[in-house]
Amino acid sequence: MLRVGIAGLGFMGMIHYLSYQKVRGVKVAAICEQDRKRLTGDWRDIKGNFGPAGRQMDLSGVATYDDLDAMLEDPKLDMIDITLPPSLHAEIACKALRSGKHVFCEKPMALKLADCQRMVSAAKRAKRQLLIGHVLPLLPEYAWARKVIQSGRYGKLRGGSFRRVISDPAWLRNYWKADAVGGPMLDLHIHDAHFIRLLFGMPQSVSTTGRMRGKLAESWTTQFRFKKNLAVTATSGTIDQQGRPFDHGFEIHLDRATLIFQFAVIGGEGKYLCEPTLLDDRGKARPATMPAGDPMMNAFEAELQAVCKAVRTGKGVEMLACNLARDAIAICQAETKSLSTGKSVRL
Ligand SMILES: NC(=O)c1ccc[n+]([C@@H]2O[C@H](COP(=O)([O-])OP(=O)(O)OC[C@H]3O[C@@H](n4cnc5c(N)ncnc54)[C@H](O)[C@@H]3O)[C@@H](O)[C@H]2O)c1
Repeated sequence: MLRVGIAGLGFMGMIHYLSYQKVRGVKVAAICEQDRKRLTGDWRDIKGNFGPAGRQMDLSGVATYDDLDAMLEDPKLDMIDITLPPSLHAEIACKALRSGKHVFCEKPMALKLADCQRMVSAAKRAKRQLLIGHVLPLLPEYAWARKVIQSGRYGKLRGGSFRRVISDPAWLRNYWKADAVGGPMLDLHIHDAHFIRLLFGMPQSVSTTGRMRGKLAESWTTQFRFKKNLAVTATSGTIDQQGRPFDHGFEIHLDRATLIFQFAVIGGEGKYLCEPTLLDDRGKARPATMPAGDPMMNAFEAELQAVCKAVRTGKGVEMLACNLARDAIAICQAETKSLSTGKSVRL
């Protein structure tokens, strides 16, 4: 039985806790949270943008800590699951690795590339797994696209455009603080930066144009240049309009097919503006069948299943690999630099 301690019991801590209950061979043995009410199981004030509402939980059998260092030293734990604000990821991951625990850490890996590098080195030294919670490739539309691409049936990748726009997340404190959450580049666009890295490899340079809010990127489009002959762009941002709570999608070009999809929340209702569809080179449009159930909760369950398997077997999982997550931070940093300087930035 893999014994996990969750560090930070906010929105994501709750989603991970609930998801672990569905994964075999793992037990949430400890929780650390600075809000003591939550350590009594009162999760009624936890809010996010998907999943079930917070409720009163029975935490019997779960050790509770309000001090992170104390939980990291708990010898009964095999893995620390970090669902703390991003500014704490690097420090807590490195400490957990040094005390011999495996680490699963939510995205973004850290706020700075140097911190990511520190985390990768700490995992190497400790000979422990360090996995980063990039869940996007497990969302049904993205998993479908990867499966079609990996099948090789429609030839090689030629490029794609990716989109992710939200309105200001009112429930997230410190969203616009560079040294706490990192704004839309690191909180939001990191998902697509990582997906682009996963599909196409590391870009050679990025050119980003758009607008800033203070010192942070607010709304932008990036062109990614690769050594290979590819055309890849992404549009992303957080706009101060509550009527535009969420919108994401892609158009991916293969030699002999185009994969398209767009989903948005409009007037309080989440709907496909374009269902996931494969357009083939003979002019046919083939809608893809998506699995039943809550797509977000299913993705987190699949993610934690993969994490537990990786720790048990000692074999990594490409989409959760710390090297890829570090590259995604490098890409985002370059995009911010390009946007603020007006110049193309090499990676
Ligand atoms: N994969 C996804 O789709 C997704 C979605 C949302 C959030 N996230 C990520 O999850 C992480 C957490 O985000 P969230 O929305 O759950 O934030 P949150 O603010 O709801 O939760 C963070 C929790 O950590 C606690 N905390 C902070 N400092 C602490 C300390 N020193 N000791 C103990 N507890 C402490 C806070 O009290 C809070 O309860 C972020 O990295 C975020 O980017 C990922």
